[in-house]
Amino acid sequence: MISKSTIDQVYEIARVEEVIGDFVKLKKSGANYKGLSPFSQERTPSFMVSPVKQIWKDFSSGKGGNVVAFLMEHEQFSYPEAIRYLAQKYNIEIEETQQTDAEKALRSQQESMYMVAQYAAEFFQQQLVDTEEGKAIGLSYFKERGFTEASIQHFGLGYSPNQKDALTAAAQKQGYKLDFLAQTGLSLVNPERGTPIDRFRGRVMFPIRSLSGRIQGFGGRILGANSKAAKYLNSPESPIYHKSKVLYGLFESKKSIATTDCCYIVEGYTDVIQMHQSGVTNVVSASGTALTVEQIRMIRRLTSNVVVLFDGDAAGLRASLRGIDLILEAGMNVKVCVFPEGEDPDSFCKARPIEEIETYLKEQAKDFIQFKAALLLEDTVQDPSAKAAVVREIVASIAKIPDAIARELYVQRCASLLEVSENVLFSTLAQLRAQGAPKSVKREDTPPPMEVVAPKSKEQLSLNRSYELERQIISLLLQFGNKQVDFEEVILVKNKAGALEEKPRTISAKVYEKIFLDLQQDEIEFTNENFRSLYGALIQMFQKEGVLQTDRLFAENDEAFNAVISDLLMADERYQLHDWERKNIYVKSSDSDVARQVNETILSLRRYLIDQKIKELQERTTEEAAAQEYLEDIKSYLTLRSLVTKRLDRVF
Ligand code: CTP
Ligand code: MN
Repeated sequence: MISKSTIDQVYEIARVEEVIGDFVKLKKSGANYKGLSPFSQERTPSFMVSPVKQIWKDFSSGKGGNVVAFLMEHEQFSYPEAIRYLAQKYNIEIEETQQTDAEKALRSQQESMYMVAQYAAEFFQQQLVDTEEGKAIGLSYFKERGFTEASIQHFGLGYSPNQKDALTAAAQKQGYKLDFLAQTGLSLVNPERGTPIDRFRGRVMFPIRSLSGRIQGFGGRILGANSKAAKYLNSPESPIYHKSKVLYGLFESKKSIATTDCCYIVEGYTDVIQMHQSGVTNVVSASGTALTVEQIRMIRRLTSNVVVLFDGDAAGLRASLRGIDLILEAGMNVKVCVFPEGEDPDSFCKARPIEEIETYLKEQAKDFIQFKAALLLEDTVQDPSAKAAVVREIVASIAKIPDAIARELYVQRCASLLEVSENVLFSTLAQLRAQGAPKSVKREDTPPPMEVVAPKSKEQLSLNRSYELERQIISLLLQFGNKQVDFEEVILVKNKAGALEEKPRTISAKVYEKIFLDLQQDEIEFTNENFRSLYGALIQMFQKEGVLQTDRLFAENDEAFNAVISDLLMADERYQLHDWERKNIYVKSSDSDVARQVNETILSLRRYLIDQKIKELQERTTEEAAAQEYLEDIKSYLTLRSLVTKRLDRVF
């Protein structure tokens, strides 16, 4: 367990814009930052981060919260994992409170698997540099390939001894359960064969890290020319390793990808490492498989410019075209760069200074569509029917591009390249797009819905009147809690005849004071548990500190609630997204407007509670015999109700 003071310190030091900036490319936008939603495919940014409020809001998925909520959502961290991650990022020492065996046992399966993977990575590293076998075989292999010690360290490279169960035995000795060793695929358990053995034996090891740097799996390369076994052996699919969602080098490259606004995609592990070593640090590898939609999405959070680098042998070239179409479909810009014959990025970079590498990349990177056209045309050699097929094939790629203007530009360029008229291309394009799903028909500049929507899982709650009113009160506190406003009030005074009479008066008070006093006077308690505790926390914050610490307002385990709160807090920013403010569509509330809203909400809540009370009493009168006293009560509640209603009418 992490101590309370560590958690407090983490909240104090962590900056939501810095933390999110490691995962999402953010651009300054007024007082906020905005970027593409990491939770949905979108082309116009609707993801907002507020450094002032220390919160984020994703207007496309409705999610939102503080820095911890982001990590939980984005990295699928548990609460303590998120805190630990932040503590590590900001060099905060974690103070642990004692953990019982039961608590240890409770750690999730995934967490245990990550721990095993982390241990294995350290074991392999240590084998590489500290053992005779490791140094003689593994380290000398890496050195021969030209990897520096810094690179070996940076990528956490290691060596798995050529023994039956070196890792399995060592890990178990350290207390790691065979169960998790087996689930990560590091150990192979076959009950008929007896003792478990290591999956990776006598291989140099490439740990594969998640976007946040945790070890998910491994690639192991065989040494020498043992042609029987596969050159690379990889971790199997598991709860922590999904081949389709892994990009080798993404953790090490993500900063550079974001800052250079470009991502190179290469074929192999060694290409990534060698390029980094040469000084090109915005490189990832799909590890020998075709690019997947998930991998493309991960890149797109950081940049929309991709250059795919191909080995000079060109064997995999044609097969990769499909994967590249996926990048186009995601609305990204794709270029292709082919290396000279017999070279891959690894060998090319190893032999050259950085200037030469950069020049080559810059000059040889070709627009993908033009590249594809040239490649396919090579084969057709004046065969008209083959050429028709090529034209269709190229237009099929163009049809994938979501942006209409970009499509048009491509049609123009390809017309001259393919020596066909633009008209032919346009009509083919129209055909293909009509066949395809009409998914890009949606206009992109449609403004988001105006109302604050409660998340779907709590739909029934948002229908609930008291929930709405409580939410409204919280919203007023968040927006105007500290504001000094003149409130028109009506008080009841006894006139000379002894009857009650209404008398208007004006009092000046802060919004939170007014709300607090009114609710207290009526002994109103919130029914929603989260709103109740948030209300308490808000009032206390205003009374004691006079300011809002917005990032502390979120509930630890209630995503739906957090989404509502971030919605309320980001109400202003929603408008900024579409520049409505400048267009004068959004008008800020005036003081008298605030007073009116406060009165209206409190009165509405009162009337709602009175209605509840009346309903309750009416039910009892039908159930119970001695109903006379209830009838009296009902009568006085009805009087009260009509008073409240009258005031509400005045407010409107
Ligand atoms: N790969 C794999 N399994 C194989 C062969 C390749 O998983 N049997 C993956 C690896 O991720 C490898 C990538 O495909 O990095 C590219 O393959 P290749 O170009 O053959 O490997 P290189 O990275 O160039 O490795 P090396 O230079 O060590 O031969
Ligand atoms: Mn290679």
